[in-house]
Order: sequence, then C-alpha cells, then structure tokens
Amino acid sequence: MSRIVHVNGAYLPEAEASVSIFDRGLLFADAVYEVTAVIDGGLVDFDAHQRRLRRSLAELGIAFDPEAADLRGIHRELIARNNLSEGLIYLQVSRGSADRSFVQPAQATPTVMLFTQAQALVDNPEAARGLRVITRPDLRWHRRDIKTTQLLYPSMMKSLAVAEGVDDVWMLEAGTVTEGSSSNAHIITRDGRLVTRALSNDILHGITRAAVLDYAREAALAVEERAFTPAEVMAAEEAFITSATAFVSPVVEIDGTPIGSGCPGPAVARLRSLYIAESRARLSR
Ligand code: PDD
Repeated sequence: MSRIVHVNGAYLPEAEASVSIFDRGLLFADAVYEVTAVIDGGLVDFDAHQRRLRRSLAELGIAFDPEAADLRGIHRELIARNNLSEGLIYLQVSRGSADRSFVQPAQATPTVMLFTQAQALVDNPEAARGLRVITRPDLRWHRRDIKTTQLLYPSMMKSLAVAEGVDDVWMLEAGTVTEGSSSNAHIITRDGRLVTRALSNDILHGITRAAVLDYAREAALAVEERAFTPAEVMAAEEAFITSATAFVSPVVEIDGTPIGSGCPGPAVARLRSLYIAESRARLSR
C-alpha cells in the first residue's frame, strides 16, 4: 500500500517524493534523525524526541527550527493521512543540497523528510521470546550522542548478527558495553539493581532509556548509572534493551551464554508493561 510522505513542506504519495542527488544527507551523512513510536494513533514521548532533535541540530550547526516547521502538526497529519494506528514516524533533517564540498555550505536550505512505517510494537514476538546478542568492538565515531544518519557500522553489525543466527550486536569499548546496534543496553543484577551506562558522548541519550529510568525509580528499583562488562552481563539476573521501537525488550543470551534463566524474566516484563502503560497514558495526539 502506498504511503503519503512529507518532503520539504509537501505531502506526496511515496513514489512521487524525491530529494536532490546533491543532498548532503546522501553524500556526507550530514543529517540528523528521530524515530518516534506511534501506539493507538498517538505519539510516544514526542516532546523529548523534539528536544533531542534540537540538540542534534545545534551540535551540527544545522539551521532548522522544529517549532517554526510545525513538526508536531506534520507528525499528526501523517498519522491521519496514513491511518496509522501502530508503528513509527521517521524524521530526517539534512543540511541541504550544495555542490559537493567538504566545506559545509553556509547558506543551504535544510531538507526535511518524514515517513510512516506500520509495525507491531506492543505485541512484538521478539519481546516475547527474548533477544540473543553477540559482542563486537564499537568502531563508530566518538559523538554517538548526536543522532546522525551515519549508520553504516551499526547496520553492518546488525547484519552480521543476523547472518550468525542471533538478533543483535552489543558493542564494546575498553572492555565495557556501549550500546546495541540501535538501542541502549541494560542489565539487572542478581541483587536487583538496574545497571545502565551513564550518559556521555559514548552513547545515544535514549528517550526510552530516560523514561524507563524514571519509571524504575518511581517503582523503587535501585538504578546504577555506570559502564558494565560482558562478564557482568553473563552473571546478571536479566538484561534488556530500550529503544523507541523495541520499547523494553529482554536479552536472554550473550556470546552463547544464557543470561539468568536464559528466558525472559519477571523484572524486565514488569518494566515493559510499566513503560507501555505509562506511554499510553501520556500519548500526544
Ligand atoms: N534507534 N542507541 C542507538 C545507537 C540508537 O540508534 C537508538 C535508537 C537508541 C535508543 O534511543 P531511543 O530510545 O531514543 O529510541 C540507542 C532508533 C530507534 C533507530 O535508529 O531506528
């Protein structure tokens, strides 16, 4: 089924939408993006995604004002026009088009594109069975806090994982886990503490991570923000990822070693239910 997408102010059938071959998003990955979940036709954590978008744009010096462009209105319009009940909205803002040059143009007009993707997020079979991960070195650049479209290495790692018959890679730096290929990584220790890497330029500051930590603290779960090793993952009671589309999903194996019982556990199941219930109660429409 053909979607209606949005490019630079226009709503178009997807086959009619295009961007310039000189777009710096294509040539240099000179672009930032956001993925916002949609459940029950409403947006999950829209304001937090917009705040991170503004930060990413500012870090790269891309002159684009999300409010002036009424991104909220565009998100709503795309949900309505595509009759989207559950799935995601992808938004990308590039610096714009200019003759190819390593010098960033001072005057380019940003390219803005959004599209919807229908997907089952709440009843996700991966969350029911649990994910198996392998570890690999984190060879990405060192500004992972900026949500740029430089996704080649994460895409290579995800593909490698699938080729090896598992679900994802957890990337390692200096002996500790940074992130999954497109998610934040967390463990729950045998004494019931949620351990998650602290925010820095090493990882994307996940919107789902932030919400889950808030809900976990409200539920009186101890939270420890620090780096952890693969050995700690192997010794953990449970492990999980967070992302806009995976929500909270259990990780049940790392490098062939079962984590805890080797099956999705109760603490992560509780966090997932809590996250979905709280998100539903706060949807933006
Ligand atoms: N990715 N870390 C990385 C490297 C990510 O790409 C993502 C999200 C996250 C989780 O962030 P959030 O909770 O804000 O979605 C962490 C999105 C979903 C993607 O690229 O599809």
